[in-house]
Amino acid sequence: ADTKVYRASTTAPVNIAVVKYWGKRDTKLNLPTNSSLSVTLAQSDLRTLTTASCSSSYPSEQGDTLLLNGEPSDVSGARIQACFRALRARRAALEATDSSLPKLSAMPLRLVSENNFPTAAGLASSAAGFAALVRAIANLYELTDNPSQLSLIARQGSGSACRSLFGGYVAWRMGQAADGSDSLAEQVAPASHWPEMRALILVVSAAKKDVGSTSGMQQTVATSSLFQQRVREVVPANMAKMEKAIQDKDFGAFAEVTMRDSNSFHSTCSDSYPPIYYMNDVSRAAVRAVEAVNEAAGKTVAAYTFDAGPNAVIYYLEKDAEAVVGTFAAVVGGASGWKEGATSLKSGIALNE
Ligand code: PMV
Repeated sequence: ADTKVYRASTTAPVNIAVVKYWGKRDTKLNLPTNSSLSVTLAQSDLRTLTTASCSSSYPSEQGDTLLLNGEPSDVSGARIQACFRALRARRAALEATDSSLPKLSAMPLRLVSENNFPTAAGLASSAAGFAALVRAIANLYELTDNPSQLSLIARQGSGSACRSLFGGYVAWRMGQAADGSDSLAEQVAPASHWPEMRALILVVSAAKKDVGSTSGMQQTVATSSLFQQRVREVVPANMAKMEKAIQDKDFGAFAEVTMRDSNSFHSTCSDSYPPIYYMNDVSRAAVRAVEAVNEAAGKTVAAYTFDAGPNAVIYYLEKDAEAVVGTFAAVVGGASGWKEGATSLKSGIALNE
């Protein structure tokens, strides 16, 4: 019998949206109420490394297992199960057409996943995590699917994960189909198109967010009246402006859409009933700091954005690093680089190809 251990590894980067995904039209398939667009950050700074292996020698009663940053992690959730099921089905289809292939689809899976940035930083790691998990298994299974096809599977693990299968500037097209077959990610431009782009991450709080993205979205979709306008008018306009800003390498336009879209997203959260507040006093101080930097420069050289938590991501161009990073270093007290727990700063993050 074949007791060999089959193995494959991959890494996937973190992405930070500049036009936000917020709202599901189908919670089971993770289909969004709007398209979104993100920037994929350099793997040297933020990435998940995942090794997938399978073997008929792995005890079948243990089932599939996942070790996340050294800790056993539950894989019984519907999202991760949907990813396993879709990938196994793709492998089984290959095995059905070629009987010489080992029957990997029938073997238990073992996944070992690690982040190169502190988990305590409270950064959205689910995007990189699910993207790495899906690609590691796809590599193990020697699937021929392209990144957009894999994005359909990663999307079912965590919506934002579909965008981490590409580097550079990435759009997640919401699609129309009820089965989600056209709700996928595609690259808008590679990092090399606009290589001067940088990100700075201000870690305001390492605490776990109090309202998770799934329940936060549900509450917003169900109760916010501003949300309807965001989905129908604000986001479609922002997507068009953002794609043009990227094509034109127009930082002023890129920055304005980024900040306005973050403001719009957080407004729908506070318009929810009961309201949801992700930003705190330090987040608001970061907004003011960006405004001060832009005012001092006499033009827009920095843009803030906030996800479902208080941490700030600031986008800027390399030529303006001194003005932008200097201001934030002063706010944080000079510290640069990851620091567990307290407020800290990581600057000069380039994009992933
Ligand atoms: O992928 P999720 O379900 O964790 O949702 C992410 C939502 C935001 O980070 C707030 C926005 C986005 O587009 O990434």
